[in-house]
Amino acid sequence: MKTIFEKTNGVEGINLTDEAINTDFLPQNFVRTSDIGLPQVSELDVMRHYKELSDLNFCIEKGFYPLGSCTMKYNPKVNEFLASLDGFNIHPNCPDEMAQGSLKLMYNLQKALLEVTGMDAITLQPSAGAHGEMTGMMIIKKYFDTIGEKRTKVIIPDSAHGTNPASAKMSGFDIVEIKSNSKGQVDIEALKAVLNEDVAAIMMTNPNTLGIFEENVKEISELMHANGSLLYYDGANFNAIMGYTNPKLMGFDVVHLNLHKTFSTPHGGGGPGAGPVAVVEKLKDYLPKPVIDFDGEKYFRNFDIKHSIGSVKDFCGNFSVFVRAYTYILMMGKNLKNASENAVLNANYLKEKLKGYYDLPYDEPCMHEFVLTGEKQKHESGVSTLNIAKALMDSDTHPPTVYFPLIVHEAIMIEPTESEHKTKLDEFVQVMIQIAKEAKECPEHILSAPHSTPVKKIDEVTAARHPDLKYIKD
Ligand SMILES: Cc1ncc(COP(=O)(O)O)c(C=O)c1O
Repeated sequence: MKTIFEKTNGVEGINLTDEAINTDFLPQNFVRTSDIGLPQVSELDVMRHYKELSDLNFCIEKGFYPLGSCTMKYNPKVNEFLASLDGFNIHPNCPDEMAQGSLKLMYNLQKALLEVTGMDAITLQPSAGAHGEMTGMMIIKKYFDTIGEKRTKVIIPDSAHGTNPASAKMSGFDIVEIKSNSKGQVDIEALKAVLNEDVAAIMMTNPNTLGIFEENVKEISELMHANGSLLYYDGANFNAIMGYTNPKLMGFDVVHLNLHKTFSTPHGGGGPGAGPVAVVEKLKDYLPKPVIDFDGEKYFRNFDIKHSIGSVKDFCGNFSVFVRAYTYILMMGKNLKNASENAVLNANYLKEKLKGYYDLPYDEPCMHEFVLTGEKQKHESGVSTLNIAKALMDSDTHPPTVYFPLIVHEAIMIEPTESEHKTKLDEFVQVMIQIAKEAKECPEHILSAPHSTPVKKIDEVTAARHPDLKYIKD
């Protein structure tokens, strides 16, 4: 080395002076006196390691993500930019006078959501769909307690998302499950059979988790209201009907929306998402507080809500999610309903293309999603729905939701969303057809999938039930 540097004219080297690298200004208690004992790895290697790990993650920016019921639509990057504007980065306890811009945004978002749902009053507080469900059920509970009616039961169809019975139960109700009919819809006779003065509400998802619109919803709402009961609308599938109809027209009294599905904000794994809850006039006084109000001159947090169930989230909710949702709404403007239109068109296109290769338990026009079954493949060659899902991973496609809804055996639930164009849908169709062919002709290839992922098969049940969480020091 020395000889190489000899040619550079500074053989002895030019050392920095002690003055230049003086660190005396550091408080002495911050100066390290012993070795920290970290493994000797260069910063660059560490960075590459984490980049490599993050590259293993699948996301919608990488490929098709048809996860039924989860609505993995594209979240425009402009949402992120606006949510990170300095002016929105304020302390949650900031006095209302100093937060007029943020309050106005929340007020306008409330107004827009009320318009699309048709409802009369709203809270933005809950931080997920399930949180919205529980908020809604608590409102219903408090309403009946306040008017002095002892109603203890909530009716839930067997196609419902698991969070529905969980939310109703956690809010103090007993669950009555009713079976779906041969069209995959609420069975009116089954409903009539369980309807009595104990029933507080029915929780319905429309379109339901099979992607089918409940055609008897008006009759159901009349039956429920005639019984003095209320109707809860699980709005997780609202992206199928937005701008075409609304829960108020269908006869619902309480609605939650999943901003992280319908209004293009990030999925939060239980938060930070947002699950606003909107209600009809007679339930307005039961909303969580505060709601955002306007007195003609200024926007303010209104804590004066007579029978409020209290607060369900600190401050006003997940504000940055509201910025993203409001951005999406303003960008779509009067074209908001095009999102539903294209989501429904894409789902029907895929359904028609795939139904010759996989069985379709309910052959009806679908809304934004549809459910196939892998029963034929399982029966003929032992290839299960799980194997099909794993095989899809070899084609840079996120598997659809599988084994849900529970009423379809070997369910494969596909939701393309409005974000995708025909070329992408056709690619997916080709992959699904190829898997169906291989399941028939060379099932071993599908049974041993995935072939291209770093970890092949994991024991998912044990991983979920008994996570091996360790902090390894050395
Ligand atoms: C029909 C339905 N209801 C409720 C939920 C719960 O929403 P969240 O995941 O935001 O809690 C989901 C979530 O996938 C759903 O699909």
